[in-house]
Amino acid sequence: MLGNFSYANPTKLYFGEDSLNYLNDELPKYGKNVQLVYGGGSIKKNGIYDKVLEILKAGGKTVFEDGGVMPNPTVQKLYEGCKIAKENAVDFILAVGGGSVCDYAKAVSVSAYCEEDPWERYYLRMEDVAPNTQIIPVGCVLTMVGTGSEMNGGAVITNHEQKLKIGHVFGENVFPKFSILNPTFTFTLPKYQMAAGIYDIFNHICEQYFSGEDDNTSDYISEGLMRSVIHSSRIAIKNPTDYEARSNLMWTAAWALNTLVAKGKTTDWMVHMLGQAVGAYTDATHGMTLSAVSMAYYRYICRFGLAKFVRFAVNVWDVESANKTLDQIASEGLNRMEQWMNELGLVMNAKDLGVTEDMIDSLAESTLIMEGGFKVLAHDEIVEIFKASIK
Ligand code: NZQ
Ligand code: ZN
Repeated sequence: MLGNFSYANPTKLYFGEDSLNYLNDELPKYGKNVQLVYGGGSIKKNGIYDKVLEILKAGGKTVFEDGGVMPNPTVQKLYEGCKIAKENAVDFILAVGGGSVCDYAKAVSVSAYCEEDPWERYYLRMEDVAPNTQIIPVGCVLTMVGTGSEMNGGAVITNHEQKLKIGHVFGENVFPKFSILNPTFTFTLPKYQMAAGIYDIFNHICEQYFSGEDDNTSDYISEGLMRSVIHSSRIAIKNPTDYEARSNLMWTAAWALNTLVAKGKTTDWMVHMLGQAVGAYTDATHGMTLSAVSMAYYRYICRFGLAKFVRFAVNVWDVESANKTLDQIASEGLNRMEQWMNELGLVMNAKDLGVTEDMIDSLAESTLIMEGGFKVLAHDEIVEIFKASIK
């Protein structure tokens, strides 16, 4: 049965080749002091930084630079960003980059005026934003496709000392006010990052799809989105400047994780929990941490949600079902998925990310166990899945 829910998505999207122009329309809505957040320098090389700065200056803004946001942003960087925001009475945060930059901007937005350690409050204790917390509005100019951070309230922060990588999903008031999606801005992404982002999109959909046995419209939407990712990814991986394929990937990424396809569902998220444990120990690229554990996880979990894996095989991978057992259909679907992942050049073995046998107990220890999927995993099952992911 479809679960009860409420739905709203407050993020306004501007999509297309001329979408950066709309920054001119958005900026007057916010105060003068702008914290310009970006990563390790890709936007300076590809010219996006200059274009954004010109618009900010023309809009009469005072810009406080906050560059150097690393992939998988750390809690130390978060504290630095909060300091910049507070000391300069920042009115607006503009994130220009990928998921790491957007996530970090949202984390700073709620943490700058948080009266206690934001890591403890939002990440260790997973508390909501207190009603009196001052939130600095955020806007995004997206340059890397995958996370969906451009249209959701999530922000993932890594604490290397504690070997924890944790995502907090904040409420609607922390969603970006607007996001600018120009597919050509993603053309300069290295292939490794593009492939990682493509799998991140696909896996976000899987995480929401692989739960429940009911007849939910959200699952039909998910199947369409997955088919679009498979189709466009095969084009984009051969020709990264194919505008239509890159546009579809960008558009699908937003829908894959903007809360829509989770509606009425319990949702799984175990691949992300396993991947985040790998990320906390190795600092590897997010999408690759997911691909490295996925086949081990899905092949294990398939028996507990067989009907859904059969539906996935038939509706997403066009597996013929005549004269086959349910097990055969489901595993053919997973085999086709694995073949597609290999075509994209994804990391398929966690060893390649630095995971070794002796790390597995600790990895299993730092894996958060979610309860919405087909099976609530026990510690020893997680250990077995990690072992299978390094075979
Ligand atoms: O830092 P720069 O120099 O900008 O380089 C980045 C970075 O090295 C580069 N890049 C981005 N756009 C580029 C580009 N290089 C050339 N041309 C461009 N146009 O790509 C590298 C990766 O960027 P990053 O932002 O780290 O990647 P991604 O978008 O995958 O974000 C990963 C982070 O998002 C979190 C992940 O855990 C990870 O911390 N996630 C956030 C989610 C959310 N908010 O809902 C959900 C996801 O499941 C995910 O967990
Ligand atoms: Zn993800």
